[in-house]
Amino acid sequence: MKVAVVYSGDSEARQRAAAGEPRYANVLGEFRRQGVEAVPVVYADEVADEVRRQLRKVAAAVVWVDPIHGGGETRSVLDPLLREAAAAGVFVSAHPDIILRLGTKQVLYDTRAMSWSSGDIRLYRSPDELRRGLAALSGPRVIKQNRGNGGNGTWRVEPAGGDRLRVLHARRGSREQEVSMDEFLAICASYGQVLDQPFVQPEPEGMVRCYMTHAEVVGFGHQHVTALTSAEPPTPQPRLYYPPDQPEFQAIGARLETEWLPRMQAALGVAADALPVIWDADFLPGPVLCEINVSCVSPFPDAALPKLVAATVARIAQR
Ligand SMILES: Nc1ncnc2c1ncn2[C@@H]1O[C@H](COP(=O)(O)OP(=O)(O)OP(=O)(O)O)[C@@H](O)[C@H]1O
Ligand SMILES: [Mg+2]
Repeated sequence: MKVAVVYSGDSEARQRAAAGEPRYANVLGEFRRQGVEAVPVVYADEVADEVRRQLRKVAAAVVWVDPIHGGGETRSVLDPLLREAAAAGVFVSAHPDIILRLGTKQVLYDTRAMSWSSGDIRLYRSPDELRRGLAALSGPRVIKQNRGNGGNGTWRVEPAGGDRLRVLHARRGSREQEVSMDEFLAICASYGQVLDQPFVQPEPEGMVRCYMTHAEVVGFGHQHVTALTSAEPPTPQPRLYYPPDQPEFQAIGARLETEWLPRMQAALGVAADALPVIWDADFLPGPVLCEINVSCVSPFPDAALPKLVAATVARIAQR
């Protein structure tokens, strides 16, 4: 039984992995500690055929690849390859279909009736719908492209009179700008469908991230939020990591496990075992669901590592 630890990288990353200095050395080491052979598989579209061959020889693939990187989309070649491996019996986490159901901003719309929602969530499926939504804005809203990370394609938007909008990108180092509706629609042209939720004041409490293995809370992160909060770029604050028994996060963790997850699973039609071996849910004060991350949850608290490995081993044993 062999497990692939898949992550994206260039030829230099492949060389480092071959020389025994892979990223995710901690994950590889924990598989070994639990008695399972694990190998690094460095993914890039140019080596997709080689990766396909490597995945034929493993029982499971645990994958860390962002949906966008360096301005480009990264998963259109990888996802079919992972689906093919899963169909051939390899346990794949996260499976691309689960990413689509859980790890895109659409989950905010699909679970808008739940008590973790801010309410008043809108989804624009075309540029025309987006234009109509933006034209009807009254207060500050946050719009999000369906698949993004690092604040890419997440904007705070407010009406600024006439057809003008005041906008602020969530990417690090962004400044507030005033643009026309047409200018903003041009920026959003590549986004596909767009989610629109109310702006929630994130401070002073900050954002709580619940790290999950399947349906179990395996750790927490806490970060004071700087994105979307001031017109000039503020200094980013670090995320601090905590084990699952950290007292101040027990209430939110318990609500997630007992109240929200069963409802989310029912709403999305996802069984507990089909949830990824590592994923996270981000909460703004409220608590209000900000987003769910599935495709590349890294780093994560140390306490999560043995659990994600044990869950993978258990899924292999079931096959
Ligand atoms: N509704 C909101 N109200 C206030 N701030 C928000 C809201 N939604 C998002 N933000 C801020 O914008 C940031 C980026 O948004 P979001 O987490 O949805 O996108 P992302 O690009 O997937 O981020 P990540 O890389 O953390 O996964 C959040 O970390 C938060 O600081
Ligand atoms: Mg995200």
